[in-house]
Parts: sequence; C-alpha cells; structure tokens
Amino acid sequence: MKEFEPYFRDQLKSKIPLLGIITNYILRRKGKQMRPMLVFLSAKLSGTITESSYVAATLIELLHTATLIHDDVVDETYQRRGFFSINALWKSKVAVLVGDYFLSRGLMLALDTDQIGVLKVVSEAVKEMSEGELLQIEKSRKLDITEEVYYEIITKKTATLIAACTTAGAFSVDANEEKVQLMKEFGTYLGIAFQIKDDLFDYEKNDLIGKPTGNDIREKKMTLPLIYVLNNCEKKEQKRLISTIRRHHKNDKKVAEIIKYVRDNGGIKYTHDKMIEYRDKAIGVLNKFEDSETRTSLMELVHYTTERNK
Ligand code: IPE
Ligand code: IPE
Ligand code: MG
Ligand code: MG
Repeated sequence: MKEFEPYFRDQLKSKIPLLGIITNYILRRKGKQMRPMLVFLSAKLSGTITESSYVAATLIELLHTATLIHDDVVDETYQRRGFFSINALWKSKVAVLVGDYFLSRGLMLALDTDQIGVLKVVSEAVKEMSEGELLQIEKSRKLDITEEVYYEIITKKTATLIAACTTAGAFSVDANEEKVQLMKEFGTYLGIAFQIKDDLFDYEKNDLIGKPTGNDIREKKMTLPLIYVLNNCEKKEQKRLISTIRRHHKNDKKVAEIIKYVRDNGGIKYTHDKMIEYRDKAIGVLNKFEDSETRTSLMELVHYTTERNK
C-alpha cells in the first residue's frame, strides 16, 4: 500500500489549477482503500504481484473515487470521509466534471499500459454501476422494491466493482481460468455483504463513519431492513409506512419514527443475518484455495468488512 500511494498520486497531475486544488483535497482524505488491498491480496493469492496489479489497483481506486464524487451529487449529501463532499465545497457542476476526469484518467492509464483485460473487467463494472443506480432511482420513485430486486441493485452498484478487484488481481498474475472464476464469485459475495453493512450503517448513529446516516429514507431508498419489515407486517401497517415515506421523507421526525419502527420489528437482525450468510459464502469460496499467509489476510479483510465501524 505504501508503494501504491505515489502510483495513485501520479495519475492525477494536471495543469488546470482548480483540478490541482481539488485533487490535493481528495488525496489528503483517503478512504479505507479496501479495493486496492483486495486487488493486491487477490494477486498474491495466485502468484507474484506485477505491474499489471498496480495498474488494476490504481484504475479501480480512481473509478471508485469518481463514483463517490458523483454519488454525493446524486444523493445530495454534503459529507464524505469525515469532511465536506466535493459538491458541498465546489457545487454539483464541478463535482460532475471532476468525477468524469477521474474516470477518464483511469481508463487512459489502462490503455497507456496496454491492460486491455483489466480495462474490460472494469468497464463492465462501470456499466453495471450506472444500471444499478438507475434501477435504484426507479424503485425509489415507485416504492415497490422486493428483496430480490434489492440484491440485484446492490450487486450491480457495489458488488461488481468489488468482484472486479478480486478478478483483476487474479488476472494480473495470469491465474488460470478456474481461479479467476472463483475469485469473481468470492468478490461478488463479499461485495454484497459489504453493501448490506453499508445499508445497516444508515440505521445507526455513528460518529466514526464520516458520512450522513438516516439518509436512505430521506431519499426514499428502501433497503433490506425496511423491505423485511414491510414484508412481515399487516397490510394496513404496510400502507401506512409506504405513505409516510412517500409524503414525509424529508421530515426528520417522521424519518426517525420509521427508523425506530424498523429497529423494533426485527429489520436490523434479519439484515445482519443475511449479511453473515453472504460473508460465509465468500469464506466458503476462499476456502477452496490452498492455505497461505495471503489467504489468512484475505479472511481478515472479509471479517473486517462485516465488523467495521466506518
Ligand atoms: C463507499 O465505499 C461506497 C459504497 C459502495 C458503499 P467505501 O466504504 O469503500 O468508501 P471509502 O473509499 O472507504 O471512503
Ligand atoms: C454507494 O452508494 C456508491 C456507489 C456504489 C456508486 P450509496 O449511496 O449507498 O453509498 P454511501 O453510503 O453514500 O457511501
Ligand atoms: Mg447513492
Ligand atoms: Mg450515497
């Protein structure tokens, strides 16, 4: 990770002063960097880290950063990684363009280094993420999401990119087709568990997380805790909840009431159990690989994913 840092920084040089200022701002507020870690560990699991592993890690972290910058515009949120989001400080128009800039720098890096394989995996993920986000918006307008569609949305918007990390990692050390396939499966399960954890955060009070909570209902975004409760209450109650969300989603007091209702009716427990189910599926796939120090590190990263508090 120490060697990765200058690699990442070098991709963001620009002669445009405003870009320089914003890029510096972003570089000073790193996230957890789970994606590059996953790329490197997945590479090491099947071989020796190569130049191509660095390209994959850089491309994916650039892309991830771009999607967070855009996500805060889409979600109208003003806090990220414990500080103001780009749209909060420089307005949406700048955030949209900076996100595009990060994305294109990532794509160019892959082209300049002839990493067509990595580029393909990652471009597929970008397409899926946009589809997932749009499906999510459609469902928040109709308020008719099912548990099945919820998994489809989180697979597309989050798990595909996590799977791109594990796949590209294996790919970057020329792992055989069977191993690449297993790593894709592993990343998908892990990514689903990762997003379920993120959705649980929204129902918590948490000073460490560095981004707003309680925001999903405000955006009419129905995630698993709420979906479960809706599926398991009386029809009358269901109607009342949906209509409250439709009419009062911007009302903090009403949002707090719904959060309390979800908590009191088993929504958190059910969701937590589902997250553990996906975590264990990920572990099951990882166990098909031979035991090694790297496999242990990956296991620890899996546990961190579902136990983290930010
Ligand atoms: C946040 O991802 C976006 C989601 C897919 C939920 P991370 O939680 O990995 O964000 P950073 O990079 O650590 O800030
Ligand atoms: C995460 O979406 C961003 C993408 C996967 C594109 P969310 O909106 O659910 O995540 P946070 O909570 O803002 O990080
Ligand atoms: Mg979002
Ligand atoms: Mg968001």
